[in-house]
Amino acid sequence: MKIPLAKPEILESDIEAVTAVLRSSRLSQGPMLHAFEKALANYLGVVHAVAVNSGTSALQLGLHALGIADGDEVILPSFSFMAVTNAVLAAGAIPVFVDVAPGSWNLDPAKVEVLIGPRTKAIIVVHTFGFPAATDRIVSLARRHGLFVIEDACEALGAELSDRKAGTQGDIGILAFYPNKQITTGEGGALVTNSAALADSVRRLRNQGRENSANWLQHSEVGYSYRLSDLNCALGLEQLSRIESILEKREALARSYQRHLSANEELQSYCDCRNGRISWFTYPVLLPSGVDRDEIWRELGQMGIETGRYFPPAHLQPVMRNVPFLCGDLSETLCVAQRVLCLPFFNELEEREIEFVCESVNEALAARAADAA
Ligand SMILES: Cc1ncc(COP(=O)(O)O)c(C=O)c1O
Repeated sequence: MKIPLAKPEILESDIEAVTAVLRSSRLSQGPMLHAFEKALANYLGVVHAVAVNSGTSALQLGLHALGIADGDEVILPSFSFMAVTNAVLAAGAIPVFVDVAPGSWNLDPAKVEVLIGPRTKAIIVVHTFGFPAATDRIVSLARRHGLFVIEDACEALGAELSDRKAGTQGDIGILAFYPNKQITTGEGGALVTNSAALADSVRRLRNQGRENSANWLQHSEVGYSYRLSDLNCALGLEQLSRIESILEKREALARSYQRHLSANEELQSYCDCRNGRISWFTYPVLLPSGVDRDEIWRELGQMGIETGRYFPPAHLQPVMRNVPFLCGDLSETLCVAQRVLCLPFFNELEEREIEFVCESVNEALAARAADAA
């Protein structure tokens, strides 16, 4: 059996939607872009959605639109995908790494305030693995200190906390649609906001700094080429139309993993999110301490089971040797990053595949426990 870590769900209706765009010859900046943006904004309950060619582009444009630049400090988790740190570095800003909280593996609100200084401009909250972060606490902290909040919901489309969708409580929310995500556009991302000024700015920036209306060739600022084609948008629109059934399917897969792994008390994962909804991106498990995670990863790989070692701490990446950064106590980050393993997770994952993965994980751990005894 070969079981990939992730796989997009492409239905006949997705293929038809993309084909219809090809036949229309409106491949970019056409009706699908507007329809996708409108559907995203409606789904999330925000006023503006601006689609771009990746989540990283959305992060870069968000930082730019907020005026974050050389020497500004931005607080963010070290336990996250490197795109977040890369976007901060690309802005010329200084990453200030904060630890994650046990249980949620999201930025720990209790450890943020001590890192706020005179040069701090923003906090990036990441809803890692689709588990909703404590955004309400971070937003009220940020407001007290006059800081912007960017919510990175790239892994968390549809996650909720206190009936608010991930990405909608900060100044800006960021989404991504790479094929391993809950919905895909192939490549793609979006920025959401309730601010018309920020949305206008990002619309200009994604398109070479061109004014949004009037004169097509009027460039009022330095911009980028970060547009998302109508082909991508048509796919996204079609996928978004079935988001609720996608989230339910993924919830059922997570429950199945929980059942099959429950006998192993040393293995930790999330169960439920109090007062919220997890949008399952992957199925992360925290292996018992003392177990060599990389060895288990290799062993499962040899059996045809692809698993993910998400995420090595950003502050330890080789690139960070050459750039300035700051950090607080990162003890939980170091512990989680060494022990976490993400199991195969995608809409079409079958029950027999989950059983095979869980049996293999349980056996690998039991063999180690027996060796240790
Ligand atoms: C938390 C987070 N932020 C940003 C990104 C970047 O998205 P993209 O790969 O579309 O640039 C990702 C992608 O996986 C992500 O997981």
